[in-house]
Amino acid sequence: MRHPANVAVRLVDYRAPDFLIDAVALDVSLDRSATRVVSKLSIRRNPRGVPGAPLALDGDELTLIGVRLDGRALGPQEYTATPDALTLTAVPDAAFTLEIETRVDPAANTQLSGLYRSGSAYCTQCEAEGFRRITYFLDRPDVLSVYTTRIEAEKSEAPVLLANGNPGESGDLPGTGRHYAIWHDPFPKPSYLFALVGGDLGVLRDNFTTMSGREIALAIYVEHGKEERAAYAMDALKRSMRWDEEKFGREYDLDVFNIVAVSDFNMGAMENKGLNIFNDKYVLASPQTATDADYAGVEGVIAHEYFHNWTGNRITCRDWFQLCLKEGLTVFRDQEFSADMRSRAVERISDVRGLRLAQFPEDAGPLAHPVRPDIYHEINNFYTPTVYEKGAEIVRMLRTLIGDEDFRRGMDLYFERFDGAAATVEDFLSCFADATGRDLSHFALWYSQAGTPIVSIEGAYDPDAKSFALTLRQATKPTPGQPEKKPVVIPVALALFGENGEKLDLASPDARADELARGLFELSESARRIVFENVPSRPVVSLLRGFSAPVRLEPAPERADLERLLACDDDPFNRWQAAQSLALRAIFARVEAARADSPAPQAQGYVAALRTLLAGADADPAFAAQALSLPSEIDLARESGKDVDPDALFSARMGLRAEIGRALLPDAEAAYGRFFESGPYRPDAEGAGRRALRGVALDLIAAGDPQKGGALAQRQFAAAGNMTDRLSALSTLALLGGDAREDAFDAFFRQFAGDHLVLDKWFALQATIPEPSTTERVIRLMSHPDFAMTNPNRVRALIGAFANANLTRFHALDASGYDLLTRVVLELDPKNPQLAARLLSSLRAWRTLEPRRRALIEPRLRHIAAQEGLSADTRDIATRALA
Ligand code: ARG
Ligand code: ZN
Repeated sequence: MRHPANVAVRLVDYRAPDFLIDAVALDVSLDRSATRVVSKLSIRRNPRGVPGAPLALDGDELTLIGVRLDGRALGPQEYTATPDALTLTAVPDAAFTLEIETRVDPAANTQLSGLYRSGSAYCTQCEAEGFRRITYFLDRPDVLSVYTTRIEAEKSEAPVLLANGNPGESGDLPGTGRHYAIWHDPFPKPSYLFALVGGDLGVLRDNFTTMSGREIALAIYVEHGKEERAAYAMDALKRSMRWDEEKFGREYDLDVFNIVAVSDFNMGAMENKGLNIFNDKYVLASPQTATDADYAGVEGVIAHEYFHNWTGNRITCRDWFQLCLKEGLTVFRDQEFSADMRSRAVERISDVRGLRLAQFPEDAGPLAHPVRPDIYHEINNFYTPTVYEKGAEIVRMLRTLIGDEDFRRGMDLYFERFDGAAATVEDFLSCFADATGRDLSHFALWYSQAGTPIVSIEGAYDPDAKSFALTLRQATKPTPGQPEKKPVVIPVALALFGENGEKLDLASPDARADELARGLFELSESARRIVFENVPSRPVVSLLRGFSAPVRLEPAPERADLERLLACDDDPFNRWQAAQSLALRAIFARVEAARADSPAPQAQGYVAALRTLLAGADADPAFAAQALSLPSEIDLARESGKDVDPDALFSARMGLRAEIGRALLPDAEAAYGRFFESGPYRPDAEGAGRRALRGVALDLIAAGDPQKGGALAQRQFAAAGNMTDRLSALSTLALLGGDAREDAFDAFFRQFAGDHLVLDKWFALQATIPEPSTTERVIRLMSHPDFAMTNPNRVRALIGAFANANLTRFHALDASGYDLLTRVVLELDPKNPQLAARLLSSLRAWRTLEPRRRALIEPRLRHIAAQEGLSADTRDIATRALA
């Protein structure tokens, strides 16, 4: 069991390490159950550490074989060793060499942290604290060392041997059936960036010439036979490398760049220096097996991990509290990349949707924490939407505030100043302060204060003075440990539109000239009043354009204003937002009516707006598809905020969907025909947009006329030439039910048997069917021969989809959904605590549910928290969820 003790780690307790490790020579002899690891460390005292302090190395479930100090074998009285620590009290004050031999059992490693097996390959995952599961070490990100790694293995079992850095000598060990390879990484790095791989893998090779003319050998290693499916990832990698040169002046620094795809992985991927290891979901893609969304995911994650080479590896984090320094910044960079590769507006909308789906509920519930937390019990639980996605929003706000040019100058300074260092958030901000002469101390509050600020506006038009007085206010609700909140610096992008949809020039004595020119106003106090002059008539305010800050707007604008914005706003994000807000209004009006037993109100204005959108969809089908999509049930739950009744939200949403479907049936049929794609599948943004729009049209047809929609979906399913069309048809059939649905699921399974990434879709889609029988179906699927608790993707596909995307079933009033989750979490916990804890986080918003559900959840959380021998990961989530 990891970390049985429940120790709190605090940012304020940070101390520099007492020792530094300049060089590491690892010799790893791979064996399924007894891998031998010899680690030779060049150690010296850190002048900034405590003089005379003992050398205390971290371990986790390690078996020690022996220790040598400067070549001399130490007796057992000269050190203390437990599976979790190796401590030497008497070490020389001068530099010395420590050689440690350990044994590890990769086959028994079900946590997927440290050295483990995925399929027939050996691989590693060391972030955050996995290196200590391979050998004793100062396993903290501020200890940077140069690594040389020798790997040895049975040649037939592992013909491919990879580690960080550049390849060195390799060869056979005659007469043993074994071979070896030596890798050297000249860039000092923390242990969490260490990686090695051994296995029998297929490879796709390519190369890249950098801006200074260096040739880099690129390789993506995958399961044999799937090399072709790595072609898109390779293309995305080359585009990422070029983009980082052009946009940030960052050139790649080693001679090789290797990526390995494995099918058992806790997270998305890992940026190990020169040897990225990926969940194969984010590498493998072919038209027959991957949807447009999958392709976008591959592109984004490939870019993300590649960009870490500078933001994460060359400049790393001083401690794990600074995680957002690399993750928030790197998410920002990958989002910008995707925006440049695809449509900026469409990318922004989907990034904001993602933020609201996962981060907003986290920030509003018991698991809320600052982007830079100040305390943790288990760091793996802080790889959160807050650290990643809100962290990216902070970087974006910084750029918005200081402008593109100054942002680039600040980034240049950051790379120049901190290359090779382990840095902090303060270090990062200091570069932008120095590049602009701006005081960013108030802005820095975004990193330490949790919770989503609520921004409200009040507008008063004075027809005599032809002026419009706008008052902006902000407030943030208390979060765990932070009862009192201060105002933060909020960049508010806004525009005013006149009666005929014309954009008004902004003039006001209450704003700086640059604010008026850019339409960007800083709200840094709890309120700010701006009186706009020369306003000919009552204007409509387009607020928070492009989602200029991660805040909530309350209350939503009036219906008439939203309809006007949807028609005239030149900011595509806010046009999309207007459509969403109109839908929310219509759905909540239905909820109210149902509660009062009155007939459902009709949403003519919204429906008419959708008709216009559908008719004009050809200009930008991807945008139209987003604007035509209703808010999800999770959106509805979040927006209703408290006493959430998933059943009421579901029926209101389905009611509106049917109303729209009936009203727009002819329009949807026309669009469905118009956006038919002939010709070969291409995963580009344009084709994806057309397919998305056709999918929306199919859904509308099925909503308006289930028979017609069902027949159409069956036809599309049978004739589909790519996974996007096939899955969109199957989703429609899944909602419609009956034999057609079961036949389609069977056919799908037969067609893709053995293709694990496609089967994940088969499991996930069944788990989200909003019908009472689904819980039984999920339980049945858990005994399916293709289900395995040991594979994180499969568990997430079935259980994760059920708990996160099937609100009515998961929150069923007979508690069957909660019982299922409890059972799975407890079964998983001893095997893979990280995954168990993550599944349990699906209850992050449980306190916003109506009382009956809360009363069912609370005792189950207590039951989990009370388990003896529970992992630190799951205990931490259960305890905080209950606090
Ligand atoms: N640094 C990885 C990324 O790019 C995430 C790895 C986190 N792994 C973990 N077990 N906590 O996002
Ligand atoms: Zn990352």
